[in-house]
Amino acid sequence: MLNRNVVSSVALLVLFTGCDIPSGGVGKVLLPEPESRGALVMKENCSSCHAAPSPGVHTAEEWPNVIYRMQEHRRMTGYTLIAPEELEPLLDYLQRHSKG
Ligand code: HEC
Repeated sequence: MLNRNVVSSVALLVLFTGCDIPSGGVGKVLLPEPESRGALVMKENCSSCHAAPSPGVHTAEEWPNVIYRMQEHRRMTGYTLIAPEELEPLLDYLQRHSKG
């Protein structure tokens, strides 16, 4: 019985330690190629509701859906949608630095 707790604490510890890696979860992360167009679009459009996430939190296949959902959040919050000419470099950037 003692071991159940020990095991889950270790599991949690591993999870949280994982988040300290710069390319980890949503939070304050160092973006790759910080001066690139994609990174700038991201800082401009993805950090008003939460900190801009690392491109490494999703695979290239997943990113379009996440962006679509974020556009929905923008719409519901009364923000303008990200323009198509900005979406393109943004998605390209996210996919180039994505997971996997
Ligand atoms: C209008 C507010 C808003 C803006 C702007 C916004 N987000 Fe989000 N984001 C949210 C909310 C609310 C959640 C939590 C609910 C959810 O996951 O849909 C979230 C969650 C996330 C998550 C974690 C959930 C997941 O699917 O991994 C990621 C990654 C993310 N956003 C990326 C982005 C990116 C990239 C942009 C810029 C294109 C962006 N967000 C812009 C509101 C916003």
